[in-house]
Amino acid sequence: MRLSPSVLAADLADLGGAVAACEAGGADLVHLDVMDGHFVPNLTFGMPVVAALARRTRLPLDVHLMIDHPERLAEEFLAAGAAWLTVHWEAAAHLHRLLDLIRGRGARAGVALNPATPVELLADVLPSADYVLLMSVDPGFAGQRFIPQTLDKARRLRALVRSRGLAVEIGMDGGLSRDNIRPVVDAGVDVCVVGSAIFARPDPVVEMLELRRRAELERV
Ligand code: DX5
Ligand code: ZN
Repeated sequence: MRLSPSVLAADLADLGGAVAACEAGGADLVHLDVMDGHFVPNLTFGMPVVAALARRTRLPLDVHLMIDHPERLAEEFLAAGAAWLTVHWEAAAHLHRLLDLIRGRGARAGVALNPATPVELLADVLPSADYVLLMSVDPGFAGQRFIPQTLDKARRLRALVRSRGLAVEIGMDGGLSRDNIRPVVDAGVDVCVVGSAIFARPDPVVEMLELRRRAELERV
């Protein structure tokens, strides 16, 4: 399991402190939620913040673009230091071209799916992707309730990836916590994105360690 804490839920006046907590908590990635106020009804941060955090941490930045026309800004986010760059299936009209561009710049190319978008729609683009991010909430805000049907999507996607012999990693984003991380991992999820369940806790570092412990606990 790779843990990708979403700093959207952290104190935004101290993002440097949030990435330091990710390092101390043994996170594998740092998840950055970029929102444009069009694709989702919220605004967050853009390339300058990504670049500033890339200078601040050795952890790879997992940049989740919740923006319309992601092809217009993809190169700029890559230049800013995105090591993983994920675009929404619902927002990208020419997905093959965009994923190829991301891979061509040496980053990992991700596709995110909203809860209402079936995983079967990825069948023809899967070989061009390194990563599929299944949204387990409608994107836009941290702290929403997990949509349980997403577990079935993860199982279906895992079967699809396996049947095609691909190395695509599966992520899940939205409403994850210590209470559901184990079923999420059991459904075939490799990358767990966790926001408020880490940063709304008194000690985010302790929570990251606990999430990993629960995700990797031996089954009895
Ligand atoms: C939601 C974002 C998520 C969010 C996760 O639109 O994509 O990454 O920050 O936050 P929690 O874990 O609080 O649902
Ligand atoms: Zn996200």
